[in-house]
Amino acid sequence: EKDILVLGIETSCDETAAAVIKNGTEIISNVVASQINSHKRFGGVVPELASRHHVEQITIVIEEAMRQAGASFQDLDAIAVTEGPGLVGALLVGVNAAKALSFTHQIPLVGVHHIAGHIYANRLEHEMKFPLLALVVSGGHTELILMKGHAEFEVIGETRDDAAGEAYDKVARTLNLPYPGGPQIDRLAHEGEPNIDLPRAWLEGTYDFSFSGLKSAVINTLHNAAQRGETIKPEDMAASFQQSVVDVLVGKTIEAAKEFEVKEVLVAGGVAANKGLRAALEEAFHKLPDVELSIPPIHLCTDNAAMIAACGTVLFKKGKRSALDLNAYPGLDI
Ligand code: KG4
Ligand code: ZN
Repeated sequence: EKDILVLGIETSCDETAAAVIKNGTEIISNVVASQINSHKRFGGVVPELASRHHVEQITIVIEEAMRQAGASFQDLDAIAVTEGPGLVGALLVGVNAAKALSFTHQIPLVGVHHIAGHIYANRLEHEMKFPLLALVVSGGHTELILMKGHAEFEVIGETRDDAAGEAYDKVARTLNLPYPGGPQIDRLAHEGEPNIDLPRAWLEGTYDFSFSGLKSAVINTLHNAAQRGETIKPEDMAASFQQSVVDVLVGKTIEAAKEFEVKEVLVAGGVAANKGLRAALEEAFHKLPDVELSIPPIHLCTDNAAMIAACGTVLFKKGKRSALDLNAYPGLDI
């Protein structure tokens, strides 16, 4: 069988990324230009700034990915691009670059859902085993997704308010830590003790999540302590907050893995980089030896285009083609 070479393009948030992937599994090149330093001083991603940076970077990043792959556009079987969800102005830059290349070089175009991409980051490491359960934890999403086959996604639970990464970033801001707060809290948590009593939203009988109550509890606890003239060590607050998030994520994932008798559990999205979450999942799944646990290496957990090309290859092989009127869909469902 002939090799399939796919160029992936990702611009949904604050990384401009392009990658070339062979047969949906092998990374030939993987280029990510992060804008974090530009957004940092504003304490979060500024959408208009993100769009402008993408416009400046997109051609350079795509050319670099092609150069590193030693490939020319004629070698490509398809171009996969994130069509949503994400920031509309940011998404449009990637979508338009992909459409222009698809039109000029007559290469099939495949729109990819950003979260489906995060899940397929795992396939760059090893083959997926169905049925599988994906725990998706990113800055915009917290979902448990059941997959019975390739590109078949069934959402069995999701957050009712804040995403896990969003809660991390908001709590980090309360503790005066720089953006993005997830890695900062993760680092602090390992220097503190989880000795502050914080709530866990179990939402019994569902696989849904809720993190806004936890975020409020952190703010209130800090506020009340300050009023009493007491100080709470930020390390202890970080450890306690992380423990609460991790307990719920791991507890619900284990429960769903058992109920749906899955063969594999995948973790996807930026929060999958969290050391506390990785350790707790490994410990919990050690007790379920029939279920394989897969967590991608950290550089594939955060936004990148390799995962978009990996997912795009599967969709391409299934016959998906996007027309040149492909748009950016900021609220796209999986
Ligand atoms: O998947 P991602 O790169 O972008 C989205 O699609 O949202 O995820 C970014 C999120 C941010 O909220 C960031 O704070 C969080 O992932 N994050 C972490 C860690 N690294 C990144 N959260 C907790 N611990 C980490 N080590
Ligand atoms: Zn993402």
